[in-house]
Amino acid sequence: MTDKIDDLLEAAREIQSAAHVPYSEYRVGAAIETESGEVFVGCNVENANFSNSLHAEEVAVAEAVKNGHREFARIAVSSSRRDGVTPCGMCRQTLSEFCKPDLEVICDEGEGEEPSVYKLGELLPDTISQETLE
Ligand code: THU
Ligand code: ZN
Repeated sequence: MTDKIDDLLEAAREIQSAAHVPYSEYRVGAAIETESGEVFVGCNVENANFSNSLHAEEVAVAEAVKNGHREFARIAVSSSRRDGVTPCGMCRQTLSEFCKPDLEVICDEGEGEEPSVYKLGELLPDTISQETLE
């Protein structure tokens, strides 16, 4: 692991402590790095109606976008179970709004294990984008 990946994964692990997960007890943290090298984090925020739950990745993307960033180099995702969680289909689509298919998606496989690293394009190929609508 390079130091940069290490730091991003650590940020994703740390923000899990802020997660609101009374229903699933499954904490997720995400840390997204902008092309300019800044990092924004997000955690999952569940809701009693279940369907309103916010996912860690979408919270991280929203945090970055609201601070004026729209170009990203990589995202790290970690769950409290360190089970190699990958962004769900909805989060893959959210990422594809701003990120190119070569975005690195770093998924935590646990202490002492190398994380799994994917490209967004392999997790969500041929998706709808702004260009599709033009
Ligand atoms: N979760 C995320 O935060 N990101 C994903 O992409 C996968 C699922 C959260 C939602 C819910 O709070 C919990 O994990 C169980 O699905
Ligand atoms: Zn998701």
